[in-house]
Amino acid sequence: MALLSLNHAGTVGVRAMDDQHGILMDTMNELRLAVVRGECREQISEVLDRLIEFTRMHFSSEEQLLERYIFPGLARHRTEHQRILAQILQSSHRVQHGEQMRMRPLLCMLRESYTEHIEGMDQEYGPWLNGRGVD
Ligand SMILES: [Fe+2]
Ligand SMILES: [Fe+2]
Repeated sequence: MALLSLNHAGTVGVRAMDDQHGILMDTMNELRLAVVRGECREQISEVLDRLIEFTRMHFSSEEQLLERYIFPGLARHRTEHQRILAQILQSSHRVQHGEQMRMRPLLCMLRESYTEHIEGMDQEYGPWLNGRGVD
């Protein structure tokens, strides 16, 4: 599994959000390393918890920004955040309750959700915010 990084296509052009996306990617890489190294379930859970906590913080901070600048796609964007959060919460619940769970498919699923979102929907608000002096 390759390391995740934000290339040019992955930046949204709003520094605070790009910084938070960078932290999300770092945490995801940390999770991947914990799995590859065969760390115990407690350790993997700890990183997953951190990823969840930071994801909540980021989603709420992004939504506040979009609300403040009356971004037209906010409702759709918020629904997608809720979907991603529910997905990661469900995975984490399964890992923490010891269900037999293959970690690699879980990682692939999380990676896909996050990168698709950042490279897709998050790109839509960049120009809107830039046009209102937020960069
Ligand atoms: Fe978003
Ligand atoms: Fe985002």
